[in-house]
Amino acid sequence: MPTHTFQNYIDGQWVASRGGRVFENRNPADRDDLIGIFQQSTPEDAEDALAAARRAYATWRLVPAPKRAEVLFRAAQIIAERKEMFARDMTREMGKVLEETRGDVQEAIDMTYFMAGEGRRQYGQTVPSELRDKFAMSVRQPLGVCSVITPWNFPMAIPSWKIAPALVCGNTVVFKPASLTPLSAINFCNVLVEAGLPKGVVNLVTGGPDVGTTLSTHQDVSVVSFTGSSAVGRIVNQNAAPDFTRVHLEMGGKNVIMVMDDAQLDLAVEGCVWGGFGTTGQRCTATSRLVLHEKIYDTFMNMLVARTKKLRLGDGLSEDTDVGPVINEPQRKAIHQYVEIGVGEGADLVLGGKIATGDGLKNGWFYQPTIFGGVRPEMRIAKEEIFGPVLAVIKVKSLQEGVAVLNDTIYGLSSAIYTRDINKAFEAIRDIKAGITYVNAPTIGAEAHMPFGGVKQTGNGHREGGWTVYDFFTEWKTVYVDYSGRIQKAQIDTYHQ
Ligand code: UN1
Repeated sequence: MPTHTFQNYIDGQWVASRGGRVFENRNPADRDDLIGIFQQSTPEDAEDALAAARRAYATWRLVPAPKRAEVLFRAAQIIAERKEMFARDMTREMGKVLEETRGDVQEAIDMTYFMAGEGRRQYGQTVPSELRDKFAMSVRQPLGVCSVITPWNFPMAIPSWKIAPALVCGNTVVFKPASLTPLSAINFCNVLVEAGLPKGVVNLVTGGPDVGTTLSTHQDVSVVSFTGSSAVGRIVNQNAAPDFTRVHLEMGGKNVIMVMDDAQLDLAVEGCVWGGFGTTGQRCTATSRLVLHEKIYDTFMNMLVARTKKLRLGDGLSEDTDVGPVINEPQRKAIHQYVEIGVGEGADLVLGGKIATGDGLKNGWFYQPTIFGGVRPEMRIAKEEIFGPVLAVIKVKSLQEGVAVLNDTIYGLSSAIYTRDINKAFEAIRDIKAGITYVNAPTIGAEAHMPFGGVKQTGNGHREGGWTVYDFFTEWKTVYVDYSGRIQKAQIDTYHQ
């Protein structure tokens, strides 16, 4: 079968990049598997998309929100019908196992249904006025054109977290997916088109950083929503700063599972394996540090290593694979460099630490699940986000010491504690500095209708998910209606019984 060339979606049409350049998308589990050819777009393509979004905004903002929501409802239904196909495409283009890509698509279904329901909410406030014949209320209004820039590790879920709420609120969108996962983005975009979105309301432009630069610097953009690395997030923030453009950033993590001496150890082992090696460790919520109470340290390490050894590496399309490849060669190199750094720092490499080369692995970017024991909090492997299957294990003497270690990071996304002591659990919930804390569950697994985001350098104070997403996709309009027929003066007029 000849390789398909995919196009951009601009102003209701599938079009080639004006620059005529393209790039390849290959399967990380088998580099000979070419998935498709995609547009290496230029800033001019991004400008075309922004102009289309600006034009479409003039009418889309006036479509009643419950009607906008009906398009999302149909979209959610279509994604549900194609869940298996989309999951397979996703595994092929970014490697995580089918069970997880099905989950990724399910997250897009959940978020799209949720936002479809929000078409009949988007509540504002009505309050009594200080003045007698006056009405006071606040309503949410759309902002305009949203730039949506998304990563490769959740290629359909994360776009849905941004695009579904942006649309139901009445905004229009220009969407730049990660170049490593354009097919899942196109699958999602196609569904929105099929569900009946008018032309120009969503536009998709594939390509590299220059497209992202246009999307974050252009004066027609009202809000930029970005999920990705802290390094790129900083650039997006700086790009948007001169025009005071609103920016939502969702970036790195160095997430901890803490296991206390009273924890149910077998449950905690399962949590660590899922949190640390699920998605091959490539989640911003992945467990990358493990903080163990000294009383259970040796027992737990033995259990964890034994369980991790059982993980089967392979092509995520095979149902008996537990861990897929990492995304590409540079990322695998970066992971291996961190392993060398850890060894150099004197951490104890207890498992893995090598490129995986067994049967069926040679053609892909596989890396062994890796565990370092005896890690000290000041080591780089305990501080820097690795974004791969590497767990750094730190021994502590108490809950308080564990919380201090956990908080000793520039990041603050997810966290977890395993304990059977309710007092300890609540103390941890109170003292951990992170956007999310799990009790007796790993650091991964956020739900669509709950706030999602982090503190410190993980983000810039916003939350996706739930109703908190409106904070960056709508603007408050405060409305006063004076029905007195005369001049009433706030803070000056007085009223007597
Ligand atoms: C991310 O890695 O950017 O809670 C998001 C979770 C997933 C989302 C991860 N639902 O782990």
